Amino acid sequence: MSGALARLGRWVDDRFPLSKLWNEHAAQYYAPKNFNFWYYFGSLALFVLMIQLISGIWLTMSYKPDAGLAFGSLEGIMRDVEWGWLIRYLHSTGASAFFIVVYLHMFRAFLYGSYKKPRELLWIIGMLIYFVLMAEAFFGYLLPWGQMSYWGAQVITSLFGAIPVIGEDLALWIRGDYVVSDVTLNRFYSYHVIAVPLVLIGLVVAHIMALHEVGSNNPDGIEIKYHKDPQGRPLDGIPFHPYYTVKDVVGMVVFLIPFALVVFFAPELGGWFLEHNNFEPANPIKTPEHIAPLWYLTPYYAILRAIPDKLLGVLAMGVSIFIFFLVPWLDRSPVKSIRYRGPLYRTALAIFAISFVALGYLGTQSPTEILTWLARIFSISYFAFFFLMPFYTRWDKDKPVPERVTSK
Ligand code: HEM
Repeated sequence: MSGALARLGRWVDDRFPLSKLWNEHAAQYYAPKNFNFWYYFGSLALFVLMIQLISGIWLTMSYKPDAGLAFGSLEGIMRDVEWGWLIRYLHSTGASAFFIVVYLHMFRAFLYGSYKKPRELLWIIGMLIYFVLMAEAFFGYLLPWGQMSYWGAQVITSLFGAIPVIGEDLALWIRGDYVVSDVTLNRFYSYHVIAVPLVLIGLVVAHIMALHEVGSNNPDGIEIKYHKDPQGRPLDGIPFHPYYTVKDVVGMVVFLIPFALVVFFAPELGGWFLEHNNFEPANPIKTPEHIAPLWYLTPYYAILRAIPDKLLGVLAMGVSIFIFFLVPWLDRSPVKSIRYRGPLYRTALAIFAISFVALGYLGTQSPTEILTWLARIFSISYFAFFFLMPFYTRWDKDKPVPERVTSK
């Protein structure tokens, strides 16, 4: 049997670079030996992407992209389709899980300077993924055709109206109608199930290719490729397979525990993963008192609302997302890892993380005067992290970086 399998393998290899790909990207891909907790989230993001694609395909089998039928078809999935409730909750919980995983994955880059040379392009591709992921979540959220789906889409699409000269036409072009309607639902459906996932998958492939071109960073922020044995293998590296494939499977199992707890016992998670008023069908003549996107978009929503002028608010929101692209060039420190950075960067990163979470919370709340002022203060500290970065990273008292990775 094994002889037959080996012969089949050789047959394929003569016609397709199967072993070559496997060796290049797994069995002979040397990753730093000191990966820690923060290095689980890349493979977890891949795992959640699979969950979303598979549950999404099954949801599509029973969902109806029609303003008259969409809400009811989802009720049908929940009640009549066998295991439909599970497929739907896997997908809705998966959406929030995706953002939790991706935010932690991005935070790791800030901890260990993973966006710095030579990984700038890897970071830019990552940011494109993040942007496309937000678009994917936004389009998907209209599909249940609940009150929040409808009014959320109405608020966000009308933001484009604030752009001078072309704004109103642009908003009309995006919606395909003067208000969010059946036309909008149809096109968002097509983006959500085919256009955006295709782009997302392409970007993820490019992300891994870029990563394997330059090699992984690690918690010490030291390039392992500068110290190799006579065979050309990095002294501080270990083959990705079997060491990290096994480790990543452990990560997936551990991840599945809280994930399953939410899916089976608290799929709405008190309104954080599925908002309460989205269980009410969309009603174009009844505006809900409080409109907010789901938690993963609320930091930017809070920045938008913190600024009284609509155009300036939209501009600030755009800048707050796009500024991430520039981080590899804003950070002027010669040191990558937080282990060897000075107090200025550590403090700035802590303030930024607090500001981001606080803005996320404020964006979910109805705006009162005090909350709006808080959102303004946190918006300032959010932007200060980026705008002051060229200065504090240069002035910081970094520590000496060792030649070789320190941890086992
Ligand atoms: C669908 C979403 C994503 C997937 C599937 C994904 C996948 C991965 C994988 C498998 C790795 C290698 C393992 C690891 O280092 O954890 C990785 C590394 C990396 N990713 Fe992502 N990623 C995603 C989104 C992002 C985003 C949004 C960013 C940043 C904006 C990003 C930035 C990076 C960086 C900088 C590295 C290198 C980290 C290092 O070597 O220290 N990724 N990604």
